[in-house]
Amino acid sequence: MPQDNTDKPYGGKGKPRKTMTAPGITAMKGSNRKIACLTAYDYATGVTADNAGADLILVGDSLAMVVLGHEDTLSVTMEDMIHHSLAASRGVQHALLVVDMPFMSYHVSVEQAVANAGRLVQEGRAKAVKLEGGGAVVDRIRAIVAAGIPVMGHLGLTPQHVNRFGGFKAQGKSAAAVQQLIDDAMALEEAGVFSIVLEAMPEETAELVTQNVTVPTVGIGAGNVTDGQILVWHDVLGMFDRFTPKFVRTYAEMGKEATAALARYCEDVRYHRFPTEKHTLHMNDEEAAAMKKIKIRKRK
Ligand code: KIV
Repeated sequence: MPQDNTDKPYGGKGKPRKTMTAPGITAMKGSNRKIACLTAYDYATGVTADNAGADLILVGDSLAMVVLGHEDTLSVTMEDMIHHSLAASRGVQHALLVVDMPFMSYHVSVEQAVANAGRLVQEGRAKAVKLEGGGAVVDRIRAIVAAGIPVMGHLGLTPQHVNRFGGFKAQGKSAAAVQQLIDDAMALEEAGVFSIVLEAMPEETAELVTQNVTVPTVGIGAGNVTDGQILVWHDVLGMFDRFTPKFVRTYAEMGKEATAALARYCEDVRYHRFPTEKHTLHMNDEEAAAMKKIKIRKRK
């Protein structure tokens, strides 16, 4: 049974919880305790994930799908990410708040990548940013890190490449693909990332990548061999109606529970059962008596 590593920045059983930092996440590589990560998109989801004890909270560009209802992550904008990051930041006290750089916010030039990462920090109160890709984005990562902004990498099924992949398809399934992933992961590490997300790949692939980098890997659909795990808030809580990826464990059926609760509310309203006396405000006697003397003019 893995032990809690109480000398680490996340504290341990019975110790006050500390605020997580990017170096703190990196330091968890090789500890027995895995890094627990969740997505969140606003104040309420940020508070809930933070109170649950997440080490890292990601305002993912999955926002596009699970919050805004788009069919993929490509339409989400810098303005969307800043708006949601700022809301989440008001609820996150302890976890490291990482924010996704949206599609086309870091692709055009290194300068634009640094400027947009800076906006996520200044306007969205992000503590770190995440961006997708391997060797092709290392110049961006180097420049953003040089500006003092911690960067998280993302390899494997990178949803911003959905059209190139021909769908949301698992990656790293051949020896050649594994070689490429290891090269990419090492390039990201050399460029200065503090951690790397590995999404939708065989466990064997994720294990080899994890063994070949000194920064922690955080898996989603990459087996139980990575240094941490991340899941999307709406998937964990059964709140996304369109599909649930095979790699998700649903810990609550909140979508169904919410629908049932809201249906009870609608019925109560319809049939006069809500509000009751308990939910009703009244005037004091003096004002109630004065109100009776109000003259209501006749309609013309
Ligand atoms: O956007 C997102 O939610 C993500 C996670 C799935 C890692 O990138």
